[in-house]
Amino acid sequence: MAQRTFSIIKPDAVKNGHAAAVLADIEKAGFKIVTIRKQSISKEQAQGFYYVHKERPFFGELCNFMSSGPIFLMVLEKENAIADLRKLMGATNPASAEEGTIRKKYAKSIGENAIHGSDAEETASFEIGYWFAGYELI
Ligand code: CMP
Repeated sequence: MAQRTFSIIKPDAVKNGHAAAVLADIEKAGFKIVTIRKQSISKEQAQGFYYVHKERPFFGELCNFMSSGPIFLMVLEKENAIADLRKLMGATNPASAEEGTIRKKYAKSIGENAIHGSDAEETASFEIGYWFAGYELI
């Protein structure tokens, strides 16, 4: 059964001209792009999105970075979408990411790591609802 996940092409990948390549990798891996929107987000919006990390030492840096330039917000669909996207993304730290993964190819550091993907079903439903209204997801 098809599953949905939420993903962001982060400011580093957009700024470095990798957005189309990341999308091509996602489509080649069999994901349907349910919806996609390019926008810049505020620091407050980033703080709300990443609230689970609010006690982490890197929270401020993370929210500054995510609001530093345009990003692509998207909802993706395929069977096993959540786990399969995480596999395609590679490890959080690009230095440990496997060859061929998006982070290995396009990211330089753990903080600026090209792409975000939901890590579980509850997270995916919170994250999709945080950025998109129901009518955008038909
Ligand atoms: P993401 O999947 O978007 O979810 C939380 C983000 O925090 C993560 O990707 C990383 O980009 C970021 N992050 C995790 N660990 C660190 C760290 N040690 N320093 C800076 N950012 C981090």
